[in-house]
Amino acid sequence: MPINVAILVSGNGSNLQAIIDANKNDFLNINISCVIANIENCFALKRADKANITNYFIDHKLYQNRDIFDNEINKILQAHNIDLICLAGFMRIIGQEFINIWDNKIINIHPSILPSFKGINAIEQALNYGVKYTGCTVHYVNEEVDSGQIIDQSIVEVTKNDTIESLSKKIHNAEHILYPRAIKSLL
Ligand code: GRF
Repeated sequence: MPINVAILVSGNGSNLQAIIDANKNDFLNINISCVIANIENCFALKRADKANITNYFIDHKLYQNRDIFDNEINKILQAHNIDLICLAGFMRIIGQEFINIWDNKIINIHPSILPSFKGINAIEQALNYGVKYTGCTVHYVNEEVDSGQIIDQSIVEVTKNDTIESLSKKIHNAEHILYPRAIKSLL
């Protein structure tokens, strides 16, 4: 039986697309049960629609605090009997209670070689630092941002003329291979 996977998104959803495609072409064998976004009309939701995946928009601004918002997401995940939660550009920090409930079942992709360049603007941070190599990491989510156990990583070379745009493109391309591969390693 394929496992039930939920994918949480906030933006473009190119990593969501990579997982959908990997599943379509049989690299993965998972059931993408639902996609949840906190941003209305984000492109990721359009991708979910196009792939006929049940999707939800949960507006974090409508909830008084993080735990109430998390709980709303939790209800959806439980209704779908979710086995694995993939954060793919989900721009909300998840609370401790939620992490406890889904212990070892939440993974995230981050655009740097962790533990370097945690947090936002990781690509810009790496470029500004002048590293020669950066990349991306899939890791478990724990109570500290971008600090959970590493599942897999990919390296990307930074070349002399790289800009944030060109480096972002290279890292995103690497992410689209890495995320399905990391999920596969957990199955
Ligand atoms: C990716 O770079 C990922 O590493 C970061 O957010 C970005 C999401 O991109 N966490 P997309 O929405 O999957 O295109």
